[in-house]
Amino acid sequence: MLTIMQQNQLEAAASFVSNKLKDEPTGHDAAHIDRVRLLAVNIAKQEGGSLFIIEMAAIVHDLIDEKLSSEWKLSPHQLEHQLLLWEVDTRDIRYIMDIITSMSFRHRHMQHKPMTLEGAIVQDADRLDAIGASGIARVFTYAGAKGEPHYTHDSQQGSVLKHIKEKLLNLKDLMNTRAGKQLAKERHEFMCLFIKTWKEECGLTDE
Ligand code: ADP
Ligand code: NI
Repeated sequence: MLTIMQQNQLEAAASFVSNKLKDEPTGHDAAHIDRVRLLAVNIAKQEGGSLFIIEMAAIVHDLIDEKLSSEWKLSPHQLEHQLLLWEVDTRDIRYIMDIITSMSFRHRHMQHKPMTLEGAIVQDADRLDAIGASGIARVFTYAGAKGEPHYTHDSQQGSVLKHIKEKLLNLKDLMNTRAGKQLAKERHEFMCLFIKTWKEECGLTDE
């Protein structure tokens, strides 16, 4: 259960992040944060963990992402400062910062420490939003913002189809929690159906 103070801290953080990321163009926008928070809470209902840590980490998880351009990003130091301004306990700040600095897809090979339950849940929630219907929507948003094509016959060039095949189709096997795995399985199946129909419409055969 969350205390009134924790609920207020979460709402302060949510409104800060929603304002900061509302126009972010590459799929790390405020709606992504809302979905990750919702997914994380739903997974936590089945898996347990500290709801405050899980929700706060979900809310702030993309603010320090290297991929964001400077307009949308905070430095880890600035984020810690913000958390202090909301009077989050310093031990909780450390816990939250550890989760969000180690959870991105790009860093998965660099992990040394075993993951905490809260970290596992937030990472699953973030990965789930990269697959299924929301994941498909986001991949086109990202490609639109970066000027990438939907697909191309040049195997060296980035494209939506390449990203789906090389990254998104692998995510279901990288889930940490039972609840996350189940949700990922459903989203993966939907994504496969989308790809099949899309390729037929585009006259693409399997390369
Ligand atoms: P997050 O930080 O939320 O885990 P990423 O920064 O890895 O996510 O990616 C954000 C979104 O953009 C995801 O939905 C991802 O599928 C998409 N994306 C990332 N890289 C590419 C790419 N090269 N081409 C198309 N979409 C991409
Ligand atoms: Ni994210």
